[in-house]
Amino acid sequence: MINSKLQDALNAQINAELWSAYLYLSMSYHFANVGMPGVANWFKVQNQEETAHATILMDYLTARDGRVELKAIDGVKTSWNSLSEAFEDTLAHEQKVTAMINNLYALATEEHDYATRTKLDWFITEQVEEEENVRGILDTLRLIGDNGSGLYSFDREMATRTYVAPSILSE
Ligand code: FEO
Repeated sequence: MINSKLQDALNAQINAELWSAYLYLSMSYHFANVGMPGVANWFKVQNQEETAHATILMDYLTARDGRVELKAIDGVKTSWNSLSEAFEDTLAHEQKVTAMINNLYALATEEHDYATRTKLDWFITEQVEEEENVRGILDTLRLIGDNGSGLYSFDREMATRTYVAPSILSE
């Protein structure tokens, strides 16, 4: 059975993942509203990924005979002045999540809970990918600037993203 310190920390992480899902859902509907359906799609996939992250942790906690305690999810921002603002917010948020995962990993090590530490390996790799993707998008946006056809192509490119459930979900 998982100890209570780790149970609390995992529940806090589950709340953070669900908050992330909520944030990206808000971004998705904001961009749908301002006529950027491709960007709206990209953030909707991001929302599905965050929901999957929370599910992986809830399933894991249950497998370890821990209790999933779903707390209230704080409200999120509902509008953005530009694409760059939304992706800067995304990067800042992902960097915060990376720090949380690292703290969780350190706690699992301190508590000699190697099963939790092993589970977190996937999240550590995932965070590197998340931050890299968003930094790449910000670089592209800097190149495009205010160019209308560039923004149109960017939106079409963002429309091609599809959700693929992580294989760890079924493990
Ligand atoms: Fe689940 Fe984007 O961190």
